[in-house]
Amino acid sequence: MCGIVGYVGPRQAAPILLEGLARLEYRGYDSAGVAVQNGGGVETRKLAGRVEGLADLLSREPVLGTCGIAHTRWATHGPPNDVNAHPHIDCGGEIALVHNGIVENADVLRTRLERDGHRFTTETDTEVLAHLIEDAEGVTLEERLIAALVPVEGTYGLAVTWKAEPGKIVVARRGSPVLLGVGDGEHFVASDASAVMGHTRSVVYLKDGDIAVLTADGYRVLDRDAVEQERAVDDIEWDLEALALGPYPHFMLKEICEQTETVRNTLRGRLLPAEGFARLNGLNLSPGQCMRIQRILIVACGTSWHAGLVGRHALEELSGIPVDVEYASEYRYRRQLRIPGTLAIAISQSGETADTLEALRAARGTGANVVGVVNVVGSTIAREADGGIYLHAGPEIGVASTKAFTSQVVALLLLGLYLARQRGQMAVDEGRRLVAEFERLPDLVARALQLEPQVKEVAAAYAGVGNALYLGRGVNYPVALEGALKLKEISYIHAEGYPAAEMKHGPIALIDENMPVVCIAPQDHVYPKVVSNMQEVRARGGRIIAITSEGNGDLSHLVEHQLRVPACDPLFSPVLTVIPLQLLAYHIAVARGCDVDRPRNLAKSVTVE
Ligand code: G6P
Repeated sequence: MCGIVGYVGPRQAAPILLEGLARLEYRGYDSAGVAVQNGGGVETRKLAGRVEGLADLLSREPVLGTCGIAHTRWATHGPPNDVNAHPHIDCGGEIALVHNGIVENADVLRTRLERDGHRFTTETDTEVLAHLIEDAEGVTLEERLIAALVPVEGTYGLAVTWKAEPGKIVVARRGSPVLLGVGDGEHFVASDASAVMGHTRSVVYLKDGDIAVLTADGYRVLDRDAVEQERAVDDIEWDLEALALGPYPHFMLKEICEQTETVRNTLRGRLLPAEGFARLNGLNLSPGQCMRIQRILIVACGTSWHAGLVGRHALEELSGIPVDVEYASEYRYRRQLRIPGTLAIAISQSGETADTLEALRAARGTGANVVGVVNVVGSTIAREADGGIYLHAGPEIGVASTKAFTSQVVALLLLGLYLARQRGQMAVDEGRRLVAEFERLPDLVARALQLEPQVKEVAAAYAGVGNALYLGRGVNYPVALEGALKLKEISYIHAEGYPAAEMKHGPIALIDENMPVVCIAPQDHVYPKVVSNMQEVRARGGRIIAITSEGNGDLSHLVEHQLRVPACDPLFSPVLTVIPLQLLAYHIAVARGCDVDRPRNLAKSVTVE
């Protein structure tokens, strides 16, 4: 969601804050601002729009000082304008604060504060926090912050600085991620490691309920009773290069093209060819626990939910364990049934999605074992789960998720193999055959990526359409959902994914010569059925783009375009069939002049519910 960065040390804060904000901008990009202690007070600069605009403003009206906080916003309360941009200040202009999350009882608190004489200048929920700190009892800023947070309901990652305590930033976390960057004679705060990694690789991930106090010389982590806490210092495992665009015009294209490597990285060290088995030590499931699994419950949002739907096929097919896949936001507010032997899997690229985290906690409340399939190392879901599978796909910056999806599918396939073999439900020969399929997968991904020039031509032909339908069956039905989601997210074309056979129960009414229909039909047991569904589309004048595979017959009598991915085991096919769909959405969005990496209204990591 929004991004936070803070700095205290010997250097000028503003350039460091701007650099951090630029790296965090993929998290929110409707407004940005900084507050810097300038000796006598706290000075803010903020405005609606991108971080570049803030950089211009700061070059015209610099703020000097070596301690400051900054923010890039994704609006929740109040429109994205100059006034509502963070940082927010108290009545006296002495306290400045940046916040991620939502203060759920902001209206009640605001009414009370206004009655007590506080003047509000913004429509945000965040501003109440500045006024609460202004009123709170305490000598130090941390004492005041702890007291101020007592009546606050909701979530926050926040950083505060106060004129009366030069050279100090105080941080609090509940529900929204915050980490500290530990430097030599300087310290950082950020909502995401990418903001600080130009300066340090040592980070401290805060836990919910933590308060942290940073100065140039050191940091302390406290609980709500101001008792000092021990927190481990972790190393960031990837480097700055992973955050650079390189030769690509957009992060989304870079991340699509990286998939040969990212799939390889998800598999690295996890295949045991001789045993026909997978090594998933991080799962922390004993053989006994594996045997006792009666049901798998997958919770996730967005693209990760689509990966979960693919995973259901893979897990049921390979391990024979029944699988339920739930939208995390729906699961958490339903009655959660206590089903003995449940293994809950939270799938999340960021590891911070609020609904997925709460669904994980709810599933744990039913007595389930809980594991994460997560990309961001050290993220909240990764830390709260009993174990899991890291994707090792590297940072994903493009707001529309691509490489995380293929790695999530690969991780779930690995889990299927692991559980099947561990529970004695798969013979060693079948295990070896699957390991061989995994081993050739990265090369097949590379070959699927070679479709790009063809996809670009198709994109040019369809960039002007207003609607699109995506059809698939079986394990490729979720790929149809994902293809449609990619298109609507970044090109703003209305698109629907449907199980191909369901089309005749409704969507067929929409089909005419203006409706492109993307049919996903690789080589598998439902291929002839999907071809029949294509006939139905064709008979109504629909224009078909077929994602098919090598070895399937020629479809030119039915379709306008055929994009052929390599043939593979049908269970693995989503890893390949999704690639032309990612490229199609990308090139259509570019042709329409859309801001691919920062689609309107979206956020990369949704840390509010
Ligand atoms: C947001 C992003 C999506 C992502 C979803 C779940 O909506 O825009 O691309 O799939 O959140 O995110 P997660 O980090 O939990 O996978």
